[in-house]
Amino acid sequence: MTITLIGYRGSGKSSIAPLIATRLGWQWADVDRLIEKKADKTIKDIFEQEGEPAFREIEREVVSELFQKKQMVIATGGGTVLSSQNRDHFIQGGPVIWLKASVEGLFERISKDPISEETRPSLTSKGGGIEEIQEVLQQREPFYKECATIKIETENHTFDSIVKKIMQQLPNEITAGENQT
Ligand code: S3P
Repeated sequence: MTITLIGYRGSGKSSIAPLIATRLGWQWADVDRLIEKKADKTIKDIFEQEGEPAFREIEREVVSELFQKKQMVIATGGGTVLSSQNRDHFIQGGPVIWLKASVEGLFERISKDPISEETRPSLTSKGGGIEEIQEVLQQREPFYKECATIKIETENHTFDSIVKKIMQQLPNEITAGENQT
């Protein structure tokens, strides 16, 4: 069984995944970090030196490997949903949680992240601003919708309250063994 976190950059996937995993006593993994480990370079370098299609190929390999494992909470990258093969893995694995926020909310969080500029490639020629978020989110929303089994509004909520909302919506068979600490 896997719990997959999906959503745009800055939606909190990588921060929320370990918190959920701790509550359940499960392991967690971050697709972006595993891609960097496999390629032995940063995501920005993979995009710049090899291009986005090469990045997506490594991403698909990492996802296939990850979904062999049991009881794992997985933080995906914002574009991991673009591949139908990845979406099938998510859906077959277990609950898929979409962390939602408005374009403005995402922009604010991405701009406040000090490492974003150095490590995250631009996704369009618009160069990472609010227009890019608008354009890319519009393309991806159907994919997020297609695989999400749980939708969580994250705007103006703390990580703790987001985790609480997620725990309330996970099926009982998962939360029955929850760590009480
Ligand atoms: C991407 C999002 C990034 C990372 C890569 C591509 C995207 O992940 O996978 O830069 O296409 O939206 P985060 O959502 O963790 O920033």
